[in-house]
Amino acid sequence: MATDAVATRSRPQRVFFALWPDALTAKRLHALAGEAQMRSGGRSMRRETLHLTLAFIGDVFPERLAELLAIGDRVGAEAFTLSVDRLGGWRHNRIIWAGAHETPEALAALVVRLNAALAAAGFPVERRSFAAHVTLVRNARSVMSEEAVDPIEWRIRGFALMASQRREDGAHYSPLREWAAAGRVQD
Ligand code: 2AM
Repeated sequence: MATDAVATRSRPQRVFFALWPDALTAKRLHALAGEAQMRSGGRSMRRETLHLTLAFIGDVFPERLAELLAIGDRVGAEAFTLSVDRLGGWRHNRIIWAGAHETPEALAALVVRLNAALAAAGFPVERRSFAAHVTLVRNARSVMSEEAVDPIEWRIRGFALMASQRREDGAHYSPLREWAAAGRVQD
């Protein structure tokens, strides 16, 4: 993977490291989002926006983007499978999410490495413990308690530094750079 579209604009960009699903995984997550939305109300996320945030950074001026790209180059990732087998919601921000009963060691380790590198470079890092989730629905009217769902086996083959733009129809995301994971995951 070698998508590289670092803008040279002088305005800050809202950026974060994330796992982005392949088309089939996105389709399955989106179907789950549709089912969840029927129960919870609120706004289902568009299929192309579904993702799992590894580390949210926030607004960054273009001159600092090179540091984030260097961090992505340095941390690297191993391929792994994430079994998305839980549906739940949070009342404080009224989101419905898809998550995993077990956080794979490779995922936890990637988040630790990213946060350590971000902190060392002076970027803000999340102090709360990492809760791997894909936001499916926002502004939920009711929030279900956590439940098991048919697992969606998500093969993680890389990660990305993403830029987010707020528009009237919701957030739009574009990759600034993607990194391939080392090793293979079972098909
Ligand atoms: P969320 O889906 O739980 O809201 C882009 O905004 C991504 O970064 C979203 O997946 C969002 O998680 C995540 N994120 C984490 N911390 C954030 C923050 N402080 N502000 C906005 N988004 C944040």
